Amino acid sequence: MSTLSLRHSTKMGSEIKTGPLRVLVTGGSGLVGKAIQQVVQQEGGQHEGEQWFFLSSKDADLVDAQQTRAAFEKYRPTHVIHLAAKVGGLYVHMRDNLHFLRDNIKINDNVLQTAHEMGVIKVVSCLSSCIFPDKTTYPIDETMIHNGPPHDSNFGYSHAKRIIDVQNRAYFQQYGRRYTAVIPTNVFGPHDNFNITNGHVLSALINKTYQAKEEGTPVNVCGSGAARRQFIYSLDLGRLIIWVLREYQEIEPIILSVGEEDEVSIKEAVDMIAEALDCKGKINFDTTLSDGQIKKTASNAKLRLYRPDFTFTPLQEAIKITCDWFVANYNTART
Ligand SMILES: NC(=O)c1ccc[n+]([C@@H]2O[C@H](COP(=O)([O-])OP(=O)(O)OC[C@H]3O[C@@H](n4cnc5c(N)ncnc54)[C@H](OP(=O)(O)O)[C@@H]3O)[C@@H](O)[C@H]2O)c1
Repeated sequence: MSTLSLRHSTKMGSEIKTGPLRVLVTGGSGLVGKAIQQVVQQEGGQHEGEQWFFLSSKDADLVDAQQTRAAFEKYRPTHVIHLAAKVGGLYVHMRDNLHFLRDNIKINDNVLQTAHEMGVIKVVSCLSSCIFPDKTTYPIDETMIHNGPPHDSNFGYSHAKRIIDVQNRAYFQQYGRRYTAVIPTNVFGPHDNFNITNGHVLSALINKTYQAKEEGTPVNVCGSGAARRQFIYSLDLGRLIIWVLREYQEIEPIILSVGEEDEVSIKEAVDMIAEALDCKGKINFDTTLSDGQIKKTASNAKLRLYRPDFTFTPLQEAIKITCDWFVANYNTART
């Protein structure tokens, strides 16, 4: 593909012309960031002449406005994929809502305002399906984000994420900025946080099942196993986020998820993990512990309008790839 030249009209009438994209990925060392890196470097996701920069918190603590500014001045991005966030599993959120709220508000405001001040053409930020209203009708869609309070367990993180959508609309209204957001459902894949207490559900279960197999003990799952989730493989998400960066023109967010028909129960997911790890031990469900939201089915109808052709990696196959990666990288994986 030849070098891409971009023209962008702002609402105020000025036109920014740039050469090839310079893409800054915040949170570039995390689960989703590593997946985007793989798509860019190994699947031809990077077009000729483009430069991609993957930041971790060691490069800049984005809670800090000066460090954020310094990172933007160093890389001079034309485009930003904003993934950096303080994230955690259900039980960590329940203990620490205040810091999930404050740190994420600061990170998001620093990134969006610095991007605006430095003339960044497009920012794609990452929301989450867990920010949707707790009491709602299903399936949830992009128009329903602000229709009621989020689930109590992670209200700090959720409100901080919701404000990104409010800011995107305000930057467009006031300055014509094309800053948008994606809403992934539950992500998993290589490089995830596999910590049993702090990790996301699928990766924590992979670690738990692996340890149970090694020790010859039962797998003890928190909750009843009845909660249902739509899981998206990180590589599929990476491919879709790059499409959003290049093609998607709306300010309104877009849900990036497998279909409603692909939602599975935690019990079904554990069975798939056990099969992938060849773990034949007993699986117990501790019904005294919280299931979190029992379901949060999201509609991917908008995505399907744009991308009827996109093929998601089958869940069992993606779980197998992730389990194999975890076993092969056990000594260095985040546990
Ligand atoms: N995983 C999911 O299921 C899921 C679902 C929906 C939405 N999301 C969203 O997707 C995005 C990426 O999530 P992920 O799962 O890839 O998370 P992750 O693996 O935990 O990675 C988080 C990333 O953010 C960086 N980061 C954290 N605090 C930072 C700070 N103060 N300054 C600079 N960088 C900081 C981390 O850098 P270090 O490596 O240096 O710590 C890391 O690169 C997040 O916005 C998250 O809310 C995730």
